[in-house]
Amino acid sequence: MARTVRVLLLGFGRVGSAFAALVEERRADLRLRQGLDVRIVGIATSRAAWRGEGPSVGGLLEQVRGGVAFEALPGVACGWDGRRSIEAIDADVVVEAVAAGLADGEPSLTHLRVALGQGRHVATATKAALVRHYAALRALARQNGVHLRFGAATAAALPTVDFARACLAGATIERIEGVLNGTTNFILTRMARAGLAYAEALAEAQRLGIAEPDPSLDVGGWDTACKLVLMANDVWDAGLTLDDVEVEGIAAVSSPDLADAARAGRALKLVGRLERGSDGIAASVGPTALALDHPLGRLEGSEKGVTFWTDTLGQITVSGGQSAPRGAAAALLRDVVHIFTGPWDGPGPEG
Ligand code: HSE
Repeated sequence: MARTVRVLLLGFGRVGSAFAALVEERRADLRLRQGLDVRIVGIATSRAAWRGEGPSVGGLLEQVRGGVAFEALPGVACGWDGRRSIEAIDADVVVEAVAAGLADGEPSLTHLRVALGQGRHVATATKAALVRHYAALRALARQNGVHLRFGAATAAALPTVDFARACLAGATIERIEGVLNGTTNFILTRMARAGLAYAEALAEAQRLGIAEPDPSLDVGGWDTACKLVLMANDVWDAGLTLDDVEVEGIAAVSSPDLADAARAGRALKLVGRLERGSDGIAASVGPTALALDHPLGRLEGSEKGVTFWTDTLGQITVSGGQSAPRGAAAALLRDVVHIFTGPWDGPGPEG
């Protein structure tokens, strides 16, 4: 007998709708291979909610793809938002893929507080609330005996925090380096390999759905900095904030810089670094010329990668993964599966 998993989905933009499509596509497989009967029982945006009435999820997706606004669909109630939906729709897990402001983390902060406070598991692709309030949110999850998963917010398809937790268990992680942003790696690769100007490469990344509609956080290095904060706080309980990260983006990288690096047998990458020392964590983001045989120097296009240095398992690099809405949606689905079947816990009930 498959276990029923009722999902309330918050956000029906590029990632949210890709998640809904993926659940529809994989339902039989999830039932067969994971023993989970995953059902989306509600979908909410900041303005409207579908509560399982009227069209099916497949029907909603078809109409939205055909250009009909979510709020205009039959069965969708206007005037609802995420909070009201979490309070009213009975779900086992809240899956969140919404835009949220880095300054206050809203509306994600409210979503996470209400969902965890009501004893719902959460899988989120949204970083903003976690970056500012991770320790408090993790404590709330533990108090309520539920899981808070955010692999989708921490480089999405590339396993980072989940890899550390599952595969580096029992080792001490001493240092982490990563090319953690697909947009910037894509731009730097296209500038270096095809001679594109920065603006042309950025426009291409936007067309392909790799860059965010507002790419300033990507190219300014802040998306990478957020991922470093999430990793440091999960791996080391570090209490790191964005103010602790030295951040330099790629806007000033020029074609001659890339050519100089290539002549020296190197490639320029936007590298995020975390190092744990006796006086705390050193965290920085900046363009770095890596040797071509460096595991992160080889990454092409929108590929990402992360290297962990550990005391007992040595140096391990994970790389690859799809930097696109479908990859982020698949990372959310991975987190949902792990909540209900995961071989590893935490930050979870036992905390
Ligand atoms: N736009 C990001 C990237 C994904 O390019 O990797 C969101 O974190």
